[in-house]
Amino acid sequence: MSKPSVLFVCLGNICRSPLAEAAFRKAAEDAGLDAHADSAGTAAYHVGEPPDPRSIATAAHMGVDIAHYRGRQLAHHDYTRFTHIFALDHSNLDAILSRMPEEATAHVGLLMDVVEGRAGEAVPDPYYGGADGFLETWADVDAAAQALVAMLRRGLA
Ligand code: 4NP
Repeated sequence: MSKPSVLFVCLGNICRSPLAEAAFRKAAEDAGLDAHADSAGTAAYHVGEPPDPRSIATAAHMGVDIAHYRGRQLAHHDYTRFTHIFALDHSNLDAILSRMPEEATAHVGLLMDVVEGRAGEAVPDPYYGGADGFLETWADVDAAAQALVAMLRRGLA
């Protein structure tokens, strides 16, 4: 199996997908899984910006520094550079699929589909809510990160 290389995709790449990237990096490191991770947005609103301060604080609370992450938009080459592309919700999954080039090799799916009993669920956007929403986002993306690392370790994803 080639080294897993996972891209997490939300709308702005400042709230949910940086947390998903952080949770996955931490879960992979804890499990001794050699994997590459990144995140991107389907929109270009926050290209070059650091994550939302609430995401930075939440990740720091969980032991991961994401202050150096920078927003970027999903690009054509992502479809061949990554083995897996996971959308945080359905509208972003639709956007990823609608831009999928002919030569795409990545497996594309909804992130919460990897969590037993939670297939089809979206990770809600915490952008317009309070700080509590970011802890809920972490709980969702961490559940997915744990499940994904377990699947990748067993060669099932
Ligand atoms: P994200 O949250 O997709 O989880 O990064 C959002 C961040 C910014 C905006 C929307 C959602 N925005 O409209 O600027």
